[in-house]
Amino acid sequence: MCLRIVTFCLIILIAVELVCYTEGLDANGKGVCVVKQSTQQRRRKSYSAMVNKMCGHRRCIVRKYKYETYLTWMNHTVCCKGYQYVNDFDTCSPICSIECIHGTCIEPDTCQCNEPAYLNENNTCVTPTCSPECVNANCLQNNTCTCKENFNPYNSTHCFHCDTGYTVDENLNCRPICESTCINSSCASPNNCTCDSGFEFKNGTACEPKCDCVNGNCIAPNTCSCYEGYIPVNETSCVPKCNNCSNGNCVAPNTCICNPGFRIQDNLGCVPDCICVNGECVAPGNCSCYKGYVRINETTCTPKCDSCSNGECVAPNICSCYSGYVYVGGFCRPICSVPCINGVCSAPDECLCNDGYVKDKNGVLCVKPKSCEEDCEGYCEAGICVPWNCTDPINL
Ligand SMILES: *[C@@H]1O[C@H](CO)[C@@H](O)[C@H](O)[C@H]1NC(C)=O
Ligand SMILES: *[C@@H]1O[C@H](CO)[C@@H](O)[C@H](O)[C@H]1NC(C)=O
Ligand SMILES: *[C@@H]1O[C@H](CO)[C@@H](O)[C@H](O)[C@H]1NC(C)=O
Ligand SMILES: *[C@@H]1O[C@H](CO)[C@@H](O)[C@H](O)[C@H]1NC(C)=O
Ligand SMILES: *[C@@H]1O[C@H](CO)[C@@H](O)[C@H](O)[C@H]1NC(C)=O
Ligand SMILES: *[C@@H]1O[C@H](CO)[C@@H](O)[C@H](O)[C@H]1NC(C)=O
Ligand SMILES: *[C@@H]1O[C@H](CO)[C@@H](O)[C@H](O)[C@H]1NC(C)=O
Ligand SMILES: *[C@@H]1O[C@H](CO)[C@@H](O)[C@H](O)[C@H]1NC(C)=O
Ligand SMILES: *[C@@H]1O[C@H](CO)[C@@H](O)[C@H](O)[C@H]1NC(C)=O
Ligand SMILES: *[C@@H]1O[C@H](CO)[C@@H](O)[C@H](O)[C@H]1NC(C)=O
Ligand SMILES: *[C@@H]1O[C@H](CO)[C@@H](O)[C@H](O)[C@H]1NC(C)=O
Ligand SMILES: *[C@@H]1O[C@H](CO)[C@@H](O)[C@H](O)[C@H]1NC(C)=O
Repeated sequence: MCLRIVTFCLIILIAVELVCYTEGLDANGKGVCVVKQSTQQRRRKSYSAMVNKMCGHRRCIVRKYKYETYLTWMNHTVCCKGYQYVNDFDTCSPICSIECIHGTCIEPDTCQCNEPAYLNENNTCVTPTCSPECVNANCLQNNTCTCKENFNPYNSTHCFHCDTGYTVDENLNCRPICESTCINSSCASPNNCTCDSGFEFKNGTACEPKCDCVNGNCIAPNTCSCYEGYIPVNETSCVPKCNNCSNGNCVAPNTCICNPGFRIQDNLGCVPDCICVNGECVAPGNCSCYKGYVRINETTCTPKCDSCSNGECVAPNICSCYSGYVYVGGFCRPICSVPCINGVCSAPDECLCNDGYVKDKNGVLCVKPKSCEEDCEGYCEAGICVPWNCTDPINL
C-alpha cells in the first residue's frame, strides 16, 4: 500500500477532520477496486442535564457536552488483485506472471499480440509466416492470407482489385467484361467490342471479315470464296468459269462471247470464222491452204500442179488439158489433125516448120522453099522477090 495515502490520512487524523480518501486513482479505472474501510472517530455531542437548582417550579436544565467515538465507513481505491500501481501514470496495470514477449499484458496473465502476430506456447508473440507469400493480402495465420481492404480473394494466396465492369484474369490483370460474346472482336472496355484486325464492325458485338471480293463472299480477312460457277484469279477476285472460251470472253458461268472474227464451237471454245476455198480457217479471215494447194488470196487456195501449161490444174497435180491438147508424158500436147511433116505440132492443128522449110501456099504443109526467080513477077534482090513498080522506076 502506498505510503502517501497513509501519510495523508495521518495528517487528516491530526487535523481531526475525519475525511480520508485516496488521491488520483479513478474508481472507474481499469484494475481499480474500491474497498470499504471502517475508522473510529470522535465527536462532541451536546446533551441536557438537570441540575439541583430550581428554576421556578422545575429544576434547571443546562446544556452540557461530551465526546463520543463512532465508526465510519470510507471508500478506498486500490489496485485490484493481479494489478499493480504504476506511479508514473497513477494507474493500475495488469501483471503477467510470465513475461509477455513482443506483446502487451492486457489482463492479469493475459498477453495480447498485435495483429497479425499470435501468442505461442512460450508466451511470445510471433508473426505468422505464409508460404507462398500473400499477394494483396495479409498473412493472418500461418499460410492463411486475408485480403487487404478493397481487395477480393482470387485464390487462397492472391487477392485482386478490379473496377466494376472488369474481371480478373489468371495473371491477376483486370479485364473488361462484355456481357455478350464479342464475335471476331475483343472486349476492349466494358461492354464495348473492338474488331480484330482485318475485321470490320457489323453490329454491337460482332465484326465480320473485311475484303473487297469480286464475284465472291468474304469468308476471312482478304480471303474470298467464289460464287458457284466462278473460279479464283487471286485472293480477292473471281471470274466466271466457262468450259472452253479460248479466243473469247467468259462473261458469266458457261457463257462465252467470242472475239470478233470468231465463232463458238462446242468444247473448242471460239474458232476463227471464215469461209475458205480449199483451205482451213486459221485466223479471222485468213485461211491455211490444204496440202497440194497454193494461196491466191486470204480466203482462196487453188490446187497446185507441177506443170500444167496448156491445161487447167483442177486438183493437186491433176491437169485438165485445154481442148485441142492431149495429156501425154505429164504434159498437155497439142493435137495436129494433119501430121506435121518437116515440122512439129506447136499448137492445135498448127505446125512449126523445121529449119529450111516453109509453109506452102495454103499455109499448111512445110515445104522446101523455091528459088526467087521461079515464081517472081518482078526481080529478085538478095533472094527476095521484089514486084514490079511502075511508079517507082528502077534506077538501073
Ligand atoms: C462508498 O462506495 C459506495 C458504493 O461503492 C457508495 O454507495 C458510498 O456512497 C461510498 N461512500 C463514500 C463515503 O464515498
Ligand atoms: C519454447 O521454449 C522452449 C524452451 O526454451 C523451446 O524448446 C521451444 O522450442 C519453444 N517453442 C517455440 C514454439 O518457440
Ligand atoms: C507457424 O510456422 C512457424 C514456422 O514454420 C512454426 O514454427 C509455428 O509453429 C507455426 N505456427 C502455427 C500456429 O502453426
Ligand atoms: C493463385 O493464383 C496465382 C495467379 O494465377 C497463382 O500464381 C498461384 O499459384 C495460385 N495459388 C494457388 C494456391 O492456387
Ligand atoms: C468503344 O471503344 C472505342 C475504342 O476504344 C471507342 O472509340 C468507342 O467510343 C467505345 N464505344 C462505346 C460505346 O463506349
Ligand atoms: C450481331 O450479329 C450477330 C451475328 O450475326 C448476331 O448473333 C447478334 O444477335 C447481332 N447482335 C445485334 C445486337 O444485332
Ligand atoms: C467471324 O469471322 C469468320 C471468319 O474469320 C466468319 O466466318 C464469320 O462469319 C464471322 N462472324 C460474323 C458474325 O461475321
Ligand atoms: C486480283 O485480280 C483482279 C483482276 O485481275 C485485279 O484487279 C486485282 O488488283 C487483283 N488483286 C490482287 C490483290 O492481286
Ligand atoms: C479449248 O479449245 C482450244 C481450241 O479452240 C483447244 O486447243 C483446247 O485444248 C481446248 N481446251 C479444252 C480444255 O478443251
Ligand atoms: C494469214 O496467214 C498467213 C499464213 O498462215 C500469214 O503469212 C499471213 O500474214 C496472214 N495474214 C493475216 C492478215 O493474218
Ligand atoms: C480471192 O480470190 C478469189 C478468186 O480469184 C476471188 O473470187 C475472191 O473475191 C478473192 N477474195 C479476196 C478477199 O480478195
Ligand atoms: C511503087 O512506087 C511508088 C513510089 O516509089 C510507091 O508509092 C508505090 O506504093 C509503089 N507501088 C507498089 C505496088 O509497090
